[in-house]
Amino acid sequence: MDSVASIALSDGMNIPQIGLGVLRVPDGETASVVESALRIGYRHIDTAAGYGNEGGVGEGLEHSGFSGGERRGSLWLTTKLRDSEQGFDKALRAFDRQLSLLRTDYVDMYMIHWPTPFDWRSDEVWRAFVRLRGEGRVRSLGVCNFLPEHLERLHRQTGEYPSVNQIELHPTWQQREVTSYCAAHHIAVEAYSPMARGADLQAGDGTIERIARRHGVSPAQVILRWHIENGTIIIPKSVHPDRQRENLDLFGFSLEAGEHAEIDALDGPDRAGHDPMTFSYA
Ligand SMILES: NC(=O)c1ccc[n+]([C@@H]2O[C@H](COP(=O)([O-])OP(=O)(O)OC[C@H]3O[C@@H](n4cnc5c(N)ncnc54)[C@H](OP(=O)(O)O)[C@@H]3O)[C@@H](O)[C@H]2O)c1
Repeated sequence: MDSVASIALSDGMNIPQIGLGVLRVPDGETASVVESALRIGYRHIDTAAGYGNEGGVGEGLEHSGFSGGERRGSLWLTTKLRDSEQGFDKALRAFDRQLSLLRTDYVDMYMIHWPTPFDWRSDEVWRAFVRLRGEGRVRSLGVCNFLPEHLERLHRQTGEYPSVNQIELHPTWQQREVTSYCAAHHIAVEAYSPMARGADLQAGDGTIERIARRHGVSPAQVILRWHIENGTIIIPKSVHPDRQRENLDLFGFSLEAGEHAEIDALDGPDRAGHDPMTFSYA
């Protein structure tokens, strides 16, 4: 398996382009899921306070020897602030708790989980994040689910754009307006639900499956390879070691321009997740 490339961020950091997402993995099962991913070769883990499994991630890191030292330096660890803990003081307190659950000295990226435009506190949160970055306890600052108007507002208030915007992105929900805005402002795009939680594996009346057969790979690998060739960071989730391996094994083939066009044409009107204008993750 060829090694995973890194994406250079505007803040000078380099993030491995493939990470393991752990949403909906119960806390008690997370350590072994993380341990298997690290054994297979993942060097990027994506969790959040709202997933309720930072303790399990921390346990997995410690058991695998990735909590500190040289191994910690080879790992990219992302976590996110709960919406209910937005605010300057609250965010600082939340971060202390999260870091102690994660059993390490710093996180590589701390993210605002949802913009909550109906209760906007991203500017206060950002100031707390800047302090954490200054203390060396966070390396990169990111947001999730931000639309261009939210990115504009944050920039107007704080003078900064985030290094990364993590958004729902897959063949049937391509969010071109958001990705173009991010490209123009040097914000790296990270795709969550990169396979629409599995629903896009059969997208386009078998389009993905046909392309997969042509290359002798799986439908998951076709979708994930499409993201990779688009320069997008991906964090596919699987609790199964064989699928974790498959989702990392994307470098033995490449898609033709015509295949890109076929997948690009699958863009549609339906998201798999929530609307950032109205949603709060609590
Ligand atoms: N920032 C946010 O608001 C936000 C929102 C949603 C997600 N996320 C992040 O993004 C990560 C990924 O998104 P997601 O979990 O929603 O969706 P996803 O990665 O698109 O899909 C995960 C689903 O696909 C299955 N799967 C994984 N690999 C497969 C393969 N090779 N073949 C067939 N099925 C496969 C998994 O099942 P098994 O586990 O049983 O293999 C799981 O049911 C999350 O874990 C989380 O870290 C962030």
